[in-house]
Amino acid sequence: MLVNRRIVLKRRPAGMPVVDDFGIDTIAVPDPAEGEIVVANRILSIDPAIRGWLDDRPSYMPPIAIGNVIRSMTLGEVIASRNPAFPLGCCVRGVAGWEAFSSIGDAVGLERVAADNAERQMGALGPAGLTAWVGLNIIGAVQPGETVLVSAAAGAVGSVAGQIALILGARVVGIAGSEAKCAALLGMGFDAAINHRTENLASAIRAACPEGVDVYFDNVGGRVLEAVLPAMKLNGRVAVCGMVGDYNDADNPHGVKTLWQLVVNRITMRGFLTYDHAEHLARAQADLDGWARDGRLVPIDNVRDGLDTAPQALIDLLAGRTIGKTLVRLQPQEPVP
Ligand SMILES: NC(=O)c1ccc[n+]([C@@H]2O[C@H](COP(=O)([O-])OP(=O)(O)OC[C@H]3O[C@@H](n4cnc5c(N)ncnc54)[C@H](OP(=O)(O)O)[C@@H]3O)[C@@H](O)[C@H]2O)c1
Repeated sequence: MLVNRRIVLKRRPAGMPVVDDFGIDTIAVPDPAEGEIVVANRILSIDPAIRGWLDDRPSYMPPIAIGNVIRSMTLGEVIASRNPAFPLGCCVRGVAGWEAFSSIGDAVGLERVAADNAERQMGALGPAGLTAWVGLNIIGAVQPGETVLVSAAAGAVGSVAGQIALILGARVVGIAGSEAKCAALLGMGFDAAINHRTENLASAIRAACPEGVDVYFDNVGGRVLEAVLPAMKLNGRVAVCGMVGDYNDADNPHGVKTLWQLVVNRITMRGFLTYDHAEHLARAQADLDGWARDGRLVPIDNVRDGLDTAPQALIDLLAGRTIGKTLVRLQPQEPVP
């Protein structure tokens, strides 16, 4: 019998999570029921959304119950299957959990992927890249020559969003939280970078976008959104990807005081979830793969090793200490202590 080692929620975090909010347990892996597969996970995704699921509040997915495995996207190999669409030995990606083995029936985003380049397929050429593509093309409808502003621009989604916007022919400005991140953005070809921790946001945005912003790819919400709205152009679009700036204090989100600009400049502000746009994802994937092949899209990964590193990896991501896509790599069948 296989024994599953997994990271579970021990208690709900107050503010920024700490490692002690998480626990480790072991349970037996059940044989798959009809329609199910068992996956030996190789890569776990570390996502800001996980922070939201640690709170007991309604969201687009239910809260993680105390004692349950931490929900996340994973990539791994099918080691038992009662689903002909996912035969033994194939590689799959989908929403499962921070654990060595996942029993999966019907998971969000579940699909077969190639077994090589696993990290890439969880980052720039996977969910993060697909999210950036949907936000820019479907929600933002970016046109060549427009000005695109991206927040959390050095992160998993932001770094791809900026690079895609450049490929689409836009002028691209990024907002990030350190000088090293701003230097990384300029290295990726961004036209300008703003440090939200040291610069006056409103005036820095005006200086970097003198003609105004056509599309704001919002990963952060809160005070960054408040500073961006007055700089939006007539008929500007705000693609609301996430609001990570509020996730650690969701009971007291920053009250955005500039919403009247939506009327002044007839701005469209629309939230989205990547996997609601399934009909576009094959094209998005083909674009991402092609751009990576021809060198126009450079994936950036921040990979940790070992299941136990997952909680600290999430904390580091929320604290702004990571660049690119944060992932945890598992060794095949990690030993059970
Ligand atoms: N809609 C969807 O389907 C979908 C899918 C995936 C992700 N998302 C969303 O996309 C956003 C980015 O996710 P990601 O995985 O790419 O994470 P990420 O950008 O790699 O990491 C989060 C970053 O957010 C920044 N941040 C945190 N607190 C902040 C604050 N108070 N003010 C400004 N910046 C802050 C930090 O960077 P700095 O050092 O630059 O501050 C941090 O590194 C999140 O909001 C996430 O929920 C949405």
